[in-house]
Amino acid sequence: EIAEKGGFPHFMLKEIYDIPQALINSFNSLMEKYLSLASMIVYGAKNVYIIGNGTSLHAGFISSYYFSEISLNVNVVSAAEFPYYALKNVTTGSVIIAISQSGETSDVIRSIKMAKQRGAVILGITNSVGSRLALESNVYLPITAGPEMAVPATKTFTSTIVVLKVLSLYTGLHSGKNDRSEISSLKSEIEELAKQLMVRLPEMEKEAEKLAPKLDKESLYISSSGINYPIALEGALKFKEASMTHAEGIQLGELLHGPIVLTNKGYPVILIKPVEAEDLYNKVIRSIKERGDVIVTVAEDGDMKSIKATRDLTPISNVIPLHLLAYKLGVRKGLPIDTPPGLVKAVIV
Ligand code: AGP
Repeated sequence: EIAEKGGFPHFMLKEIYDIPQALINSFNSLMEKYLSLASMIVYGAKNVYIIGNGTSLHAGFISSYYFSEISLNVNVVSAAEFPYYALKNVTTGSVIIAISQSGETSDVIRSIKMAKQRGAVILGITNSVGSRLALESNVYLPITAGPEMAVPATKTFTSTIVVLKVLSLYTGLHSGKNDRSEISSLKSEIEELAKQLMVRLPEMEKEAEKLAPKLDKESLYISSSGINYPIALEGALKFKEASMTHAEGIQLGELLHGPIVLTNKGYPVILIKPVEAEDLYNKVIRSIKERGDVIVTVAEDGDMKSIKATRDLTPISNVIPLHLLAYKLGVRKGLPIDTPPGLVKAVIV
């Protein structure tokens, strides 16, 4: 096991360090013929549902921002909720994009089986080639992040974002919203981000270690807006799993509509600087400071410095500081980070 961890104390940390290479592998492993087929299916759909659980659901939320850029409205629904919320609108012509790193999650498999019976086409996105999701899908796209051992998912999340971004660009080719140059630009942007990450990760790890004591409280908020809002949700999930700390991901503007009342002197609020909504961001910082709460900013020039990235890749550059903060807090608390009590890697019951 020590060898498998490559000298790292935990799989979670190793897998964070795997992210740069996993991003590149995930982009390069997507084959033209499957992308063309998958994107054609999405483009021709009567309606599109994106389903997944936990971290995979959060990746789905991010992709809804990508698809909206090509004027495609998608419905992102928890695979656990899909049978009760969406099923009646699923018919022939519907497309279900089902995301699961393990490809074995019961909620996902149950939902796609139900959708198939109603005539939907299933597009699976998974990190596990021989999984039930891969087998049950009409077409599937691989994630290619390599095996992920820690229960808190990290590199599979960032790689899933890459797959979904590429899928959205290919879908946009059919409607003329994108051209091929955007695909090659994305490749260079991913390579640049990966290169920067490889250099900066050790420094970021140290920053996280220094900041972790500030976050060692019973509860905290994580907030952002726009395409980084799902990152607040994902960060909060990582804090629960890796550091057993209650964390709530909340939309930046919504903080002011009540939730801020729980904060007080010393209450930690992690703010991920949004790409848009700078005025709102500054307003929230002022309101929080007035109350004396602790702010930890995630930004290029923040307390936790994220790597400069193009707008669509900021969910990747911003989630890594949160991964590291949650991890370091878990280490500080002496927790079994890779195997949080009572949790398993794939929820198959
Ligand atoms: C992520 O850190 C969690 N362990 C969990 O939420 C997970 O993402 C969820 O159970 C879905 O798993 P899957 O991607 O294998 O379907």
